[in-house]
Amino acid sequence: HKRLSPFPADFLWGSASAAYQVEGAWDQGGKGPSVWDNFVRIPGKTFKETTGDVAVDHYHKYKEDVALMAEQGLKAYRFSIAWSRILPEGSGAVNEEGLRFYENLIDELLAHQIEPVVTLYHWDIPQALQDQYGGWESRQVIADFTNYATLVFNRFKGKVKHWVTLNEQNVFISHGYMLATHPPGVSDPKRMYAANHHANLANASAIKAFRELGVPGKIGPSFAYGPNYAIDSKPENVLAALNAEEYNANFWMDVYMWGEYPKAVFTWLEEQGWAPDILPGDTELLKQGAPDFMGLNYYQTATNAFNPIDGVGLGKMNTTGEKGTTEEQGIPGLFKNAANPYLEKTNWDWEIDPTGLRIGLRRIASRYRVPVFITENGLGEYDKLTAESEIHDDYRIDYLRRHALAIQEAISDGVEMIGYCTWSFTDLLSWLNGYQKRYGFVFVDRDEADEKDLKRYKKDSFYWYKKTIAANGANL
Ligand code: BG6
Repeated sequence: HKRLSPFPADFLWGSASAAYQVEGAWDQGGKGPSVWDNFVRIPGKTFKETTGDVAVDHYHKYKEDVALMAEQGLKAYRFSIAWSRILPEGSGAVNEEGLRFYENLIDELLAHQIEPVVTLYHWDIPQALQDQYGGWESRQVIADFTNYATLVFNRFKGKVKHWVTLNEQNVFISHGYMLATHPPGVSDPKRMYAANHHANLANASAIKAFRELGVPGKIGPSFAYGPNYAIDSKPENVLAALNAEEYNANFWMDVYMWGEYPKAVFTWLEEQGWAPDILPGDTELLKQGAPDFMGLNYYQTATNAFNPIDGVGLGKMNTTGEKGTTEEQGIPGLFKNAANPYLEKTNWDWEIDPTGLRIGLRRIASRYRVPVFITENGLGEYDKLTAESEIHDDYRIDYLRRHALAIQEAISDGVEMIGYCTWSFTDLLSWLNGYQKRYGFVFVDRDEADEKDLKRYKKDSFYWYKKTIAANGANL
């Protein structure tokens, strides 16, 4: 066994959420619609046609939720701001009531010594911008996102010390423009890589504005990183894993950190005719937007094997978390996914791999030399409320304990860590899976068909995390 270093004294033991998944009040308080408000209304897009119209009504119950966070001893709460709550049209007129909601939430957190960690964008671009110019597909989004970010920086600077720009750009771009499972539901690689390039520029431009405004604190994107393994040591399979790592991970993180796309992937995109247009000034802007930390959303690893040029394509992705959709898929000529014989899976076929988290942390730290902030990690499961109003989620405690231990091991390896935000604090809407796939420390009594009373119940994991925070992780 390795000798373990303690967690840093200021380690942020936190938990996370996203506006669309918790707030509800989708058309209240002057909020404009986002692309998700409309997408969920298209029949067949979500489990049992579930929407986030009410979600877990955090908009009205935030004080109750913050009180529970305080009881648990949470050091940080990561939440996202809904762009269209602040700017109902995406740009132009500012909705003061929307700003006030987040101000009240931030003040409530600070009053309880909980650090607010603010995500600027968790997938909910204003519908108005989608209608006006196709959202991420237009370069106009760079200026509009920067304007929105600037507004929020100016309003909350001094109160918020850690900022997340874009949540999982790799997920919202690939699901939105390739797999067509997220808005705008497009399947077109050329359009996808263009939209992705604009998102990169918007991310860099917001970070640049943050620095120019002299906002105190740290800023970075949150990336959905699933470290890639080779199925075995056959050189063709090792090459496939390298391809997957460059294609699925470095393709985003290299741009964040260095302002440049990995050569092999970019060359491959040019061969396909899918490479984005890089205009004069783009690379300079990207290089000016290097983040202070890498936000890491970690759920699982991926295992890869050789995939011939006429091999399997995208197929139906299992990353939406839809139960039972795992099938062989890949990028012909680069890699294909393979099942890892050493790992157990959740009920949604997500592999459970705490060592993969340590591997991911090590890879980020040694390639980019920046601190890492785990902005999401957690277990989505069916939870049962007992007759005694308890939830015995020992499987979640086991999952989180093993992942927290992997973080401590990475710290002991020398990885600089800011904190650990579990996904999620209360149960919330799983974008495509309704309310049955639960992640929280706090059970919210509702299901797809019935909002019931939205009553909150503390799960066993709530008390486990409370103890872990109090011990600063010394009890793992
Ligand atoms: C991440 C997202 O991709 O995974 C979250 O940032 C999401 O918003 C989480 O809820 C879990 O995904 P799912 O599909 O299980 O809800």
